[in-house]
Amino acid sequence: MATARACANIALVKYWGKRDAALNLPATGSLSLTLSALKTETSVVFEPELASDSIAINGIVTNPAEVRRVGKFLDLVREHAGIGTRARVISFNHFPTASGLASSASGFAALALAATRAAGLELSPKELSMLARRGSGSAARSLFGGFARMHAGDRDDDAYAEPVASPLAARVRMVIAIVAGGAPKHVGSRDAMDHCAATSPLYPAWLELVPDDLAAAERALAAGDLRSLGELAEANALAMHATALAARPAIVYWQPATLALLAKVRALREAGRAAWATIDAGPHVKVLTTAEDAAEVARAVAVVDGVTQVIPSEVGGPAELLG
Ligand code: PMV
Repeated sequence: MATARACANIALVKYWGKRDAALNLPATGSLSLTLSALKTETSVVFEPELASDSIAINGIVTNPAEVRRVGKFLDLVREHAGIGTRARVISFNHFPTASGLASSASGFAALALAATRAAGLELSPKELSMLARRGSGSAARSLFGGFARMHAGDRDDDAYAEPVASPLAARVRMVIAIVAGGAPKHVGSRDAMDHCAATSPLYPAWLELVPDDLAAAERALAAGDLRSLGELAEANALAMHATALAARPAIVYWQPATLALLAKVRALREAGRAAWATIDAGPHVKVLTTAEDAAEVARAVAVVDGVTQVIPSEVGGPAELLG
């Protein structure tokens, strides 16, 4: 039996498109910030008497689709370890809310660490990152604390993340504004990125843009230049959403509150605060800010109509074994 904990991460340069679906290889690299407020804790035990994998998340036995997804992931671990034993997986998302925040990043990172240990394997951080990627692309980055850079790689299975040191890691915070209610049918990131790649006339431009954004983000991280990083993160997220808006039919993740939050973040900046927005495959807005400005940012976004919860977060550490 092994238990591991991992934090979720939010991309500042987004992963949005695959070059290989079977191996879950990304079309481009990406760059993220790990968040302490969003944690998953997962225990795994391989039990010879089990006839099939058993998976419970937050005390609830998961649906067959989720069991298949996790089971396929556990198959990779079994293959690696040369065992056939089925596993019992018990996972808790310690998220302040369940409302549409992606838990696949922290979930598959914690699962990769706990399952490999429970199977008697000791993988390097790079190997663990490659394994976590097979569960969810963003999970490859959640093995690491602070800023993490995902490399797209150019061969078969060389896409992995690694931490990026920056003086900004000690200064930044993220404020998550949850937008709920009235959301149309949600399109998961996996289907949405495939749909964009297949139909969006802006997708080729996106693929061209990301390497430049990544290089600029890394320069900003090295220089401790928060303004450049923030401006880039906001522009990159809007470009990702532009590919979705231009897809046919369109994928529109935004709600009225999403736009109101974008305006609020702009107003905060004009008032001299550090505040830059990023948005993932949903209506919520995550604001990159500083320790000094986080409380003011949290107060300002909380009063936007349609915001149901605000989660301030510090920078999270790397995934770790708890036992
Ligand atoms: O890891 P996935 O397959 O859920 O994809 C994540 C996609 C985004 O959250 C929109 C962007 C990112 O890089 O995390």
